[in-house]
Amino acid sequence: MERTLLIIKPDAVRDRHIGDILKIVIDAGFDIKALRMTRLTLDQAARFYAVHEGKSFYASLQTYMTSGKIVPVALERDNAVAKLREILGATDPSKAAPGTIRRLYGSSIESNASHGSDSVENGRLETAFFFPELDF
Ligand code: CDP
Ligand code: MG
Repeated sequence: MERTLLIIKPDAVRDRHIGDILKIVIDAGFDIKALRMTRLTLDQAARFYAVHEGKSFYASLQTYMTSGKIVPVALERDNAVAKLREILGATDPSKAAPGTIRRLYGSSIESNASHGSDSVENGRLETAFFFPELDF
């Protein structure tokens, strides 16, 4: 079974959408393997998003991702990575398809409510970033 990481981002936690987002994910057939609430340090946010180092939005992304509590969720399903990206919708909520998590609960290209891993390899790495106790 494939694994991927969902993060309910600070804006969505602040806007009280944890339950709404988890319902969409569960209704899409995902199993929750692990879940917790935490707040990232700047160093953790920088490491998690290291792939974006040098991009114009990197500093602002770190400020946003450390601005409040987040809910990382380890998910399992067949085709989990692609399926989660599908129900998240496009990075920019205004370009995301109707009914997707980002269209429903995101408010800008930065404050887009949720993260989903972008490859099977990153699904494993990112899940282990938050849940190192899970065995693979
Ligand atoms: O999250 P996703 O994989 O769809 O997009 P990304 O290109 O990997 O960017 C990571 C995150 O950076 C996005 O989810 C946004 O929160 C933020 N971002 C931004 O603030 N401005 C951009 N032009 C692109 C992304
Ligand atoms: Mg990405």
